[in-house]
Amino acid sequence: MFHSVIEARLRLAVAAVVPTANLTVVQVRPATESRFGEFQSNSLMSIARSLGINPRQLAADIVARLELGDICAPVEIAGPGFLNFRLLPAALVGLVTDALAGQHLFFEPTARSKSIVIDFSSPNVAKPMHVGHIRSTGIGDALQRLWRLLGHRVVTDNHIGDWGTQFGKLLVGWKTLLDRVALEADPIAEMERLYREVNTRCDADPLCLDVARRELVLLQAGDPENLSIWQEMIRLSQVQFDTIYGRLGVRFDVVLGESFYNSELAGVVGSLLSAGVARESEGAVAVFSDGKLAPKEDPFLIHKEGEWVDIPALIRKSDGGFNYMTTDLATLVHRLKTWNPDEIIYVVDDRQSAHFKSLFLVFERWQPEAANGVILRHIGFGKILGDDGKPFKTRSGDTVKLGDLLNEAEERTLKVVAEKRPDLSLSEQKEIARVVGIGAVKWQDLLPNRQSDYVFSWDKMLALQGNTAPYLQYQYTRASKVVRDAGDRDADQGVVLTEAAELALVRHLMNFGFTLQAAAEECRPNYLCNYLYELASHFSRFYEACPVLKVEEPARSSRIGLCELAARVLKLGLNTLGIEVTDRM
Ligand code: ARG
Repeated sequence: MFHSVIEARLRLAVAAVVPTANLTVVQVRPATESRFGEFQSNSLMSIARSLGINPRQLAADIVARLELGDICAPVEIAGPGFLNFRLLPAALVGLVTDALAGQHLFFEPTARSKSIVIDFSSPNVAKPMHVGHIRSTGIGDALQRLWRLLGHRVVTDNHIGDWGTQFGKLLVGWKTLLDRVALEADPIAEMERLYREVNTRCDADPLCLDVARRELVLLQAGDPENLSIWQEMIRLSQVQFDTIYGRLGVRFDVVLGESFYNSELAGVVGSLLSAGVARESEGAVAVFSDGKLAPKEDPFLIHKEGEWVDIPALIRKSDGGFNYMTTDLATLVHRLKTWNPDEIIYVVDDRQSAHFKSLFLVFERWQPEAANGVILRHIGFGKILGDDGKPFKTRSGDTVKLGDLLNEAEERTLKVVAEKRPDLSLSEQKEIARVVGIGAVKWQDLLPNRQSDYVFSWDKMLALQGNTAPYLQYQYTRASKVVRDAGDRDADQGVVLTEAAELALVRHLMNFGFTLQAAAEECRPNYLCNYLYELASHFSRFYEACPVLKVEEPARSSRIGLCELAARVLKLGLNTLGIEVTDRM
């Protein structure tokens, strides 16, 4: 791709002029405004600054060494030392010709393939998946698709919450209150009811709490009856998860729930104690601040009544039970041992950011060498809000179940499709409603900066105009329809790019690879959303300004080719976000 060619040659020229320069800071980006050409680099100014020399002079020396005559017009030095790169028309034509010949689709796989573990979705057993799960599931899935598309080796791991104190209460409920008929009809709802009822009883009656604790201890000790009930609860929950993942088109390489690490936990605590990272405190075992961070940055400290006090990370409770943190430490060790990843990415709600900060710090203190060899990243996200600015709930104030939400998305879309396309059969209408409805929910969730909260809105997400999945899917159907209607394109007719709208479309197509890479590296699928929205808009403007089927050759074949490339990039881009397309809408 031109972007990487220009960057590589610029680095060569910089190295020739300033042999000591740090070449990784030499970067080329898509131009912010098309009147400056296709690409720009602002990197020479910082090099000049660090050397204490005149940036314009440095730029002139470097440009004199820069060999880009085969693809660019003479490089322009602007302002205090920006470089502007303008591609030769023939270079753009060549790029499109190669894409049409199937040599590339405006991106290239990475030269340095990394191995990456992505922990996402990770719902809890015996509870319904709710609207919030769309966040971790959708963002995580988009990231794994992005990294894979670029040629990285990815392992996706669903860290299901299948262990913990809630099972004590669930076991009491199962043994004393279970309604088999209700369980048959809706297992998750029944398990939820059991938990709720026992929970209320325990609040009022300490004896109930004791019974629940005893059931939990029995389970942890491997009591066969409790184990088999617990397994049944997991199995029933997994059916629910799988149904939803099936609808969302999400799959995992491995599903290793918290219970998988159970046998490792005592060893983790022992090792942390003997390494001097953890210590006993009031019968529990915990990790305290080591005082190396500024108090404000230190997750093991909290500011209370004018002073900093400890909030240690618990790894063993006084009753001998283990914590979320302990399991996460064991999980981390297992992942390093099993996949030796370069990076582990945790796609989890921002409310857990202190947990992950502590987790990474504890691990660093415990196994500094291993911690050095891996990048650990918590990829957090904000909340979904209702119209009232409070967390999104049903009208009666309950959490919104994800399954119900997806049903509603499909139903609402079906109404629109039935109105607009009465010519289609009901099953065809339903298929379109599925693709568009689910796509709309995902798009709404992926579009904002992931750390911001957003307001859930059916009207906004299902609109055919604006930055929505339906709009993009519709532009895809237009582009792919032209290609179908055109029949075979005459590949011997050369590519011609003369109209402004054609050039704008091609320039935007060219930035696909840059966008994919930035979205993957920063774990920000919204970069790709915005890119695709702009692509759809460029395509739409091109399609309105330039006749395709009714124009003379070679423009006819050339424009059919542009429609084809726009359709392919739109489809691949949407698929990379986990969103399907359909040929008709
Ligand atoms: N099950 C947890 C929850 O629902 C999320 C787990 C995230 N992954 C992890 N390795 N801690 O809050």
